[in-house]
Amino acid sequence: MTALLERPRTHDAVRDLDRAARRVLLTNWRGHATVPAARLYPHQWSWDSAFIAIGLRHLSPVRAQRELESLLGAQWRDGRVPQIVFDPHVPDDAYFPGPSFWRSARAPGAPGVPTSGIVQPPAHALAAWAVHQADPAASRGRGFLARVYPRLVAWHRYLTTRRNLTGNGLMSVVHPWESGLDNSPAWDVPLARITPVPGTEFTRRDLNHAAAGERPTDTDYGRYVRLARDYRDAGYADSLGVHAFAVEDPLCNALLAAGEHALASMAAELGLDGERHRSAADRLTENLTTMLYDHAGGVFFPRDAHSGRMLRSYSIGGLMPLIVPGLPVASELVGTALGDRFRLRDACPLPSYDLSADDHDPGRYWRGPGWVNTSWLFWHGLRLHGEQALADDLRDRLIDRVRDAGFREYFDPLTGTGHGTDGFGWTAALVLDLLRTP
Ligand code: SER
Repeated sequence: MTALLERPRTHDAVRDLDRAARRVLLTNWRGHATVPAARLYPHQWSWDSAFIAIGLRHLSPVRAQRELESLLGAQWRDGRVPQIVFDPHVPDDAYFPGPSFWRSARAPGAPGVPTSGIVQPPAHALAAWAVHQADPAASRGRGFLARVYPRLVAWHRYLTTRRNLTGNGLMSVVHPWESGLDNSPAWDVPLARITPVPGTEFTRRDLNHAAAGERPTDTDYGRYVRLARDYRDAGYADSLGVHAFAVEDPLCNALLAAGEHALASMAAELGLDGERHRSAADRLTENLTTMLYDHAGGVFFPRDAHSGRMLRSYSIGGLMPLIVPGLPVASELVGTALGDRFRLRDACPLPSYDLSADDHDPGRYWRGPGWVNTSWLFWHGLRLHGEQALADDLRDRLIDRVRDAGFREYFDPLTGTGHGTDGFGWTAALVLDLLRTP
């Protein structure tokens, strides 16, 4: 019996949670885009906007379209979609590293609005297709797909060409912030090679809004700053020579593969041939499975692009290929999720890192706590692969968690204690999606 049924969920409780989620999204809405959290993250973030659009489509498909189009409007000429689009009305020192650090205006092919120069996981094609499907007539009426499809194609092209750093057909992330799983233990080995910038050379702003014990350490922050600075100083050029940190990670490559399937659907809707997207999806799925899947572990591991070594760490990223249609090892991944490391039946949201590891830290950013977006992706993957009962159970427990702890950024996966910021955009948006998806 699910938690939902044990504690009767009244119509009123569902309505209250739905209303509270809408309130968060309204508070964080800036007229063209939604900030992840008003104080901690006061600009537009790339993959946040993708997840937020997935929720917004239930409230206003047009607003969801604008969310994605404002992000894609800041695309660089080389196709990259930046991790952050800065709001020029927000003071430079409200977030570090801000516009004066990234200096995008000086980079060739950057847009008129200031942005950061790195990227985030490519969840956008999935989101755009979901937004279209929410109201196909409104989408056609506004020419939504006709506008975003070429931009999404250029975005994927950037990742599959410029970021194919080893030439083996997988994209690399070149900064832990690009992985979405910023301080995951999965990055500890390649990150240890990076000399941190001394703390005296920059001022963290995140600690003004969240407890130090729930955020990355100062040493890791110094390494993040070093990598970002080196990339900037190389004019945002991409090569293994520029990127001291380069990792082929399962989450980004899985999103790319799933995104190519979404692009194929968009192409069909636009009367174009989607074959190249289907072939790209097949190629990515094959590469992902042959190069990053570990049969003994029943999980995908990232690979260090410099050393060629697998980063054998059980992080949530290793389960994310479940979102890929036709993944040949889907049932093995579900088996791993049900095991002691992730405890799919009772941990919620799914832990960002191995519950059985000695260094699992249930309150520190991506080193243990559960996040709603990765659990939403896993829920989506369970449905895709016919695991409806497990999907429904996970959905019910996610809803209960957020109802009990609030729209927090992340949660202790066993006790449910909320961590990080409150009023967090994608938590609200994805709960809305869970509540409203039949
Ligand atoms: N998540 C990062 C931060 O903590 C940036 O993407 O600011």
